[in-house]
Amino acid sequence: MTEPVRPADPVLVVDFGAQYAQLIARRVREAHVYSEIVPHSLSAAEIAERSPRGIVLSGGPASVHVEGAPSIDPGVYELGVPILGICYGAQLLARDLGGEVARTGRGEYGRTDLDVVDQQVLFGPAQPSHQPVWMSHFDTITAPPAGATVTASTPDTPAAAFEDVDAKVYGVQFHPEVVHTPHGQEVLEHFLYDACGLAPGWTMTSIIETQVAAIRAQVGDGRAICGLSGGVDSAVAAALVHKAIGGQLTCVFVDTGLMRQGEGEQVVETFRRHQGIELIHVRAGDRFFEKLAGVTDPEDKRKAIGELFIRVFEDAAGGLSDAKYLVQGTLYPDVIESGTKDAAKIKSHHNVGGLPDDMDFELVEPLRALFKDEVRKVGTELGLPDEIVWRQPFPGPGLGVRIIGEVTPEKVAMLQRADAIVREEVKSAGLEREIWQAFAVLPDIRSVGVMGDERTYGHPIIIRAVTSEDAMTADWARLPYELLETMSGRIINEVAGINRVAYDVTSKPPGTIEWE
Ligand code: XMP
Repeated sequence: MTEPVRPADPVLVVDFGAQYAQLIARRVREAHVYSEIVPHSLSAAEIAERSPRGIVLSGGPASVHVEGAPSIDPGVYELGVPILGICYGAQLLARDLGGEVARTGRGEYGRTDLDVVDQQVLFGPAQPSHQPVWMSHFDTITAPPAGATVTASTPDTPAAAFEDVDAKVYGVQFHPEVVHTPHGQEVLEHFLYDACGLAPGWTMTSIIETQVAAIRAQVGDGRAICGLSGGVDSAVAAALVHKAIGGQLTCVFVDTGLMRQGEGEQVVETFRRHQGIELIHVRAGDRFFEKLAGVTDPEDKRKAIGELFIRVFEDAAGGLSDAKYLVQGTLYPDVIESGTKDAAKIKSHHNVGGLPDDMDFELVEPLRALFKDEVRKVGTELGLPDEIVWRQPFPGPGLGVRIIGEVTPEKVAMLQRADAIVREEVKSAGLEREIWQAFAVLPDIRSVGVMGDERTYGHPIIIRAVTSEDAMTADWARLPYELLETMSGRIINEVAGINRVAYDVTSKPPGTIEWE
């Protein structure tokens, strides 16, 4: 696999194992400067090889005084590249460069008042001299690095910010990257624009141009295929590759029959009609239902769907025997080299769209350098509709894991209608972007009801709506009662066979987002 061409001269965010590194890298990009996360174990030579224009040392959970505390090759300080240390990173600078970090026992956590005492580079005239910042540290910098000037302080941290313009060393004890530091982004921008002399050139247009050039260089006049799932990542990857190589790209869309209402048609409409992409649409619903007949165990279902998906995809791709390249929508968070094992972001994804390793393709991964929010912006810029760009995460096995027990075409039709009502109502309540996922589940039980004067014995629908940042944890969404009432009324009136609606009030953990 070849690495995609990345923009030159990045700002490197050195990861000391906290969750903060990703957030810092995103904030740097929001300032339109390209950033990458690197582990702290890189040598100075390895850092120099990447020709950074600036280096940010992230926060970390550790104390610089603890044995085995993560550090950085001191050769990095000799590179002449501007360095900004944040929290743990600032303490490291103080410790390594002739300052002092003391265990005063007076840590600061949460909102703290900062006084700017000297305006050099990090604090500009537009910023108030007295401002709230967010702190989370135990040790305290009592003396800045030799030669640096203290430029801000708090009641408990005399050296809350220090700057040495000649040595290009900057440090802040607070976290400029979090929203609770309202002027934090300005501090970062002063570092990037003024200390590093960078221009805000990382824009959607430049991202698209860079990736289009990289794809052309990689694929040349070869032929590429891309499996579309209907999700944002594969959609944006396909649209980018199509922009680069046009008719040399063929997309394959396997319609498993387990997608949400209208989704299959929407994929075809968007890609074939609007984007003008050559698309092979495989209607494989019957094959999936046949394979799922009598299968009730959740893991058996996943396995059955996954295996058949690969077979169907291979059959379709087999007709394109000259295709040497396979486009995949891998994102940056999946490929970040983490600083420490403890912060390693491991998401074991039982993904159905995943293809076997032995398929003989060279991968084209144009989103490998992008965060999800950037992928969405690129998608919009490339003309993809909001329904795809802002689509909720949807499991690869589709409605197959939202129907408890055996999956039949009748149950899928019932669930599709109920699910469409849930999503329509969330959308018309204006809650679509606040809610991580909202959907319907069809359990394998029936209950007694009464409609008109008739006794009914029908299926319930369970509504599941959660808020989440990353799907690793989730909370049940506090949907307004009126909204639940509308959904319940509509589902019972509009979906034959359903006579009861329940709302799932379980967080993750202990529940999972999906029911299977
Ligand atoms: P759980 O149910 O594990 O789901 O809390 C976490 C997130 O992953 C999605 N999910 C899947 N995605 N293949 C996928 O591609 C799957 O088999 C699968 N199972 C769950 C789920 O929708 C949620 O966003």
